[in-house]
Amino acid sequence: MAATTDVTGDLHDAIEAARRPGTADADWATFRRRAARELPRLERLLRQVYGDDPRTGEQLALLVAQLAASWQDRPADLRALDAAREADPTWFTSHRMLGGVLYVDRYAGTLAGLREHLPYLRELGLTYLHLMPLFRAPEGNSDGGYAVSSYREVDPALGTMAELAELAAELRAAGIALVVDFIFNHTSDEHVWAQRAKAGDPEHLGYYHVFPDRTMPDAYERTVREIFPDDHPGAFVPFPDGPDGRGGTATGRWVWATFHRFQWDLDYANPAVFRAMAGEMLFLANQGVDLLRMDAVAFIWKRLGTACESLPEAHLLLQAFNAVCRIAAPAVLFKSEAIVHPDEVVQYVSPEECQVSYNPLQMALVWSSLASRDGRLLQQALARRHALPTGTSWVDYVRSHDDIGWTFSDEDAAELGIDASAHRQFLNRFYVDRFPGSFARGVPFQDNPRTGDCRIAGTTASLAGIEAGDAGGVDRVLLAHAVTLSTGGIPLLYLGDEVAQLNDHAALAEPGHAEDTRWVNRPRYPAAAYARREDLTTPSGQVFAGLRHLLAVRRATPELGGNALVPFDAHDPALVAYQRPGRAPDGTATTVLVVVNVADEPRTVDALTLSGLPPWAEDLLDGGVRPLGGGLVVPAHGVVWLRVAHDCLG
Ligand code: GLC
Repeated sequence: MAATTDVTGDLHDAIEAARRPGTADADWATFRRRAARELPRLERLLRQVYGDDPRTGEQLALLVAQLAASWQDRPADLRALDAAREADPTWFTSHRMLGGVLYVDRYAGTLAGLREHLPYLRELGLTYLHLMPLFRAPEGNSDGGYAVSSYREVDPALGTMAELAELAAELRAAGIALVVDFIFNHTSDEHVWAQRAKAGDPEHLGYYHVFPDRTMPDAYERTVREIFPDDHPGAFVPFPDGPDGRGGTATGRWVWATFHRFQWDLDYANPAVFRAMAGEMLFLANQGVDLLRMDAVAFIWKRLGTACESLPEAHLLLQAFNAVCRIAAPAVLFKSEAIVHPDEVVQYVSPEECQVSYNPLQMALVWSSLASRDGRLLQQALARRHALPTGTSWVDYVRSHDDIGWTFSDEDAAELGIDASAHRQFLNRFYVDRFPGSFARGVPFQDNPRTGDCRIAGTTASLAGIEAGDAGGVDRVLLAHAVTLSTGGIPLLYLGDEVAQLNDHAALAEPGHAEDTRWVNRPRYPAAAYARREDLTTPSGQVFAGLRHLLAVRRATPELGGNALVPFDAHDPALVAYQRPGRAPDGTATTVLVVVNVADEPRTVDALTLSGLPPWAEDLLDGGVRPLGGGLVVPAHGVVWLRVAHDCLG
């Protein structure tokens, strides 16, 4: 049996007490080995967060027992996966990775309905499938399921938890990792914890930030942002009286609600909250979830006088959750959802915290480049903000279920002579078609005239010009995807965008959607667009054919995996260019040179700029070889992927 000398006495006893009689020695030894490795870290992190709080030791002992129970509950196939992934910890950085995201109800009706789409998803080449929140949630507006009433129950309209576990197994057999949200910053106000708090139970009142009057809310609101001002101003809502759900009589008390009034922030200053949520997390892990999308990570810790975002304790707690998984479900990875300043986004990414992160900067800057026909901000971001620690990966996406916010750094923009605030205003006007000649047909989201803040909702096709009938629309859609497919990391496709689905304005008339324009970019399964996908006379057919080709080429191009990226100065603000050093399938050292042109007319990389390259390159997208001696012409909104031998590079 592995030594556990570094696990402190009480915890050692708690572990042993949790062993069940039927647990095989070998399985128990595996658990003990992982506990010996990770428990000291977990304990240190929790003591750092909770200091001398007398509840910490007690909660730790409970947590350890929970870890042991969860491991013993873990199905054999998932334990085998744990071992396989421990042996191959960077499995998710392969160039064969391709993510897809969908809402089960909107795309397929139910979990059973989704199974009928699996052949198509496999044919696309997905290796990662994010099912948008599918847990029990309040009727009507539930923030698209981001208000969770039970982490252990699937929304009955979609199916059951048993069906989700079966689907996970089926996906696993098909080489597709299942991704679901772990919405751990808040619960819905109908979660049993919230209901008990409403009923006056002191234990569960302690799970939330409840204040007796406006004194503390006013003090916090001096420094926190308003996230959903359309729903309520500030970060607090009246705390209702009585256990009967929403709309009870106001008691004069207030509860923290960063997002909607029915999403109550959990109080992680209470160690019992961490332990309880770790239990919910492990429950999901044991259903066969491969990757947890850690929702709203920036908000989980609050401190008076600060923005209450990305505080050091938020990182410590994520690391503690990470340690929990390393002990009891090591196959599981975290993806951080931190849509914040780029300096902060990257702080969540490490093998000990979140191994994977959305790349909101790249996403926003692709759209910025297309609107301004100026790729310099994107080029600069690739040069200075693309690097990640070893063993981690970006998730690169063209757009998500959410709005697009312009999260680039003001200082980065200033270096290029770009006034950040004026540029954001331009982008907002451009993408909601309030700018002369705009090709975009987006919709404003959380337009806040008081702060001047605004974000953009819209599908890829509608934002890129296809809805407006702009001649460059199809090529812009392909260009945006070609960037996400060539910068490394896991490319993530919003399903339906591959057949150029347009905005769905009717979705705003559905129950609970009226106040949230993001529903415009969450259309139901676009059956008509899918039916046209082989018809090359339609934008759906053109986007589908173009994208399928890009996907096939990426799958055959190992250099496009990983994260190594070297910027290439093409000496033209409309040209974004970079090299992806690596190895070709035959093992030779190569570099793939990527050049994209965001302008509306062809641009040329001149011969002098290319003089460090060999005279010929393998053209990965068009096939054959391409002479470079006379320069490289890149068509309007065009993309070039060229492979050159590495030792030819100057
Ligand atoms: C994340 C989700 C968003 C949701 C919010 C609150 O940002 O992406 O859709 O509104 O968290 O849970």
